Amino acid sequence: MTPSAAAPTKLNKFEKYKVEKDGLAVKDELKQFSELGWEALDETDLVHRLKWLGIFFRPVTPGQFMLRLRIANGILNAEQLRVLASIVQRYGDDGSADITTRQNLQLRGIRFEDFPNIFEQLQQAGLTSIQSGMDNVRNITGSPVAGIDGAEFIDTIPLCQAIQDAITNHGTGNPEYTNLPRKFNIAVAGGPDNSVHAEINDIAYVPAFKDGHFGFNVLVGGFFSAKRCEAAIPLNAWVTAHQLADLSCAILRVFRDHGSRANRQKSRLMWLIDDWGLDQFRAAVEAEFGQSLPDAAPNDEIAWDKRDHIGIHPQKQPGLHYAGLHVPVGRLKADEMFEIARLAQVYGHGDIRLTVEQNLILTGLETAKLDAFRQEPLLKTFSLSPAPLVRELVSCTGAKFCNFALVETKQRALALAQDLTEELNLTQAVRIHWTGCPNSCGQPQVADIGLMGTKTRKDGQTVEAVDIYMGGKVGKDAQLGERVLKSIPCDDLKPVLRDLLLEKFGATARA
Ligand code: HEM
Ligand code: SF4
Repeated sequence: MTPSAAAPTKLNKFEKYKVEKDGLAVKDELKQFSELGWEALDETDLVHRLKWLGIFFRPVTPGQFMLRLRIANGILNAEQLRVLASIVQRYGDDGSADITTRQNLQLRGIRFEDFPNIFEQLQQAGLTSIQSGMDNVRNITGSPVAGIDGAEFIDTIPLCQAIQDAITNHGTGNPEYTNLPRKFNIAVAGGPDNSVHAEINDIAYVPAFKDGHFGFNVLVGGFFSAKRCEAAIPLNAWVTAHQLADLSCAILRVFRDHGSRANRQKSRLMWLIDDWGLDQFRAAVEAEFGQSLPDAAPNDEIAWDKRDHIGIHPQKQPGLHYAGLHVPVGRLKADEMFEIARLAQVYGHGDIRLTVEQNLILTGLETAKLDAFRQEPLLKTFSLSPAPLVRELVSCTGAKFCNFALVETKQRALALAQDLTEELNLTQAVRIHWTGCPNSCGQPQVADIGLMGTKTRKDGQTVEAVDIYMGGKVGKDAQLGERVLKSIPCDDLKPVLRDLLLEKFGATARA
């Protein structure tokens, strides 16, 4: 089909290759691809279409692939974590897993020929990576303490799972939703603290009572991009819990059929809402949903500051606790994953939860076992009480694996936070987010201090640098931060951060 026959507007180059062959088509070709070897593949299949299966060719480490899973609500069991650990263990020092800012895992170091076997293992373990990259719906995020939080209004786990199952046809792939104009994020908040960052999702459901009934207000259009960042806006609609999957699919179909496919810089959902106006958009969603939507409840139930879940906290089940472990910049090695799985089973219910702060939570710990748990050697690495500057550190992948990166992020983020911890006393945690380039995968706009990689000139040389964002507010009345400083060379960053912490975050210099 020629592009002009496919749609009246001029299609961008990504749309053209999707018209030539749908991304999901590589699912049936993978075995053959793996026999051919990645070097022999068509470049568009290799670099783009494989992302429909969650397979990322990494130009920085050719031959070592990244696999992005999808883990609805960020919840795994110990056996699943062991399967993932054994996958990355095979690759020795090259193998690792990153907890992502969407409660997800990205596995690293994978050799291409292993994928057919890995997909069999995932399927047997009840895991999937389908539709996790490119123009698909990303991991569905929900409350990391769903089902165990005394303050929650609803358990978001079955809701996130239902949305994922609808969009992916239970993990087997659903061609209805594999050709969106652009990526798409969905989140379901279940408690009073907006632990999912509702505001930065294309669709967010936030708890809200209407006439005494529980349901969700719907927010739409939140997104980050290099050129534009917008917080989600109210759709002025209220839905009950059992409608979330159907409404999500209806909104996706509106986006699929009417979102712009001309300019990729202007194709996220908010651009369609801008183009049409909210009323027309809402009417189109109602038509697709097949029924009218009641107006939003006047108030939602987001009333708290965001919790970070680190440390040991009581569950709503009497006598049980959950433990939030801090994972420095979200990186896990295979032996650590095995050990986490063991701890989850020995001390708890065997569940492992992932958080958007790139940390993890174990659940179901009995009071009598807490002392022994606290003595576990792994807690020296994955602390229950990390220092305030490390505690809320978030970082995207950066130059080690990502070809878009303008700076190295994770190691630098950790080193700087540790250095500053030695120099300063802090009484409050400071949310510092690093992102390697303007794509903002590390979400600097939601941070107290956000650092975005760039390049600048210093002493006649091009050097790694950051733009600094401040003012991001999370939880109730969430707000996106703005850029306050430009092009600070990374080598000069420490004193700048030190001053900011002293002046704005109540830090004092250590003697
Ligand atoms: C054109 C824009 C973007 C491009 C090309 C892009 C590309 C990428 C790539 C290549 C990776 C994988 C890197 C690796 O781990 O090896 C990645 C990771 C990720 N991206 Fe993006 N991205 C874009 C925008 C965004 C935005 C706006 C968000 C949401 C705020 C986002 C969220 C993520 C997340 C959560 C990860 C996982 C890694 C992490 O937690 O740091 N991306 N992105
Ligand atoms: S922000 Fe840039 S460097 Fe970081 S993962 Fe995204 S694309 Fe890569």
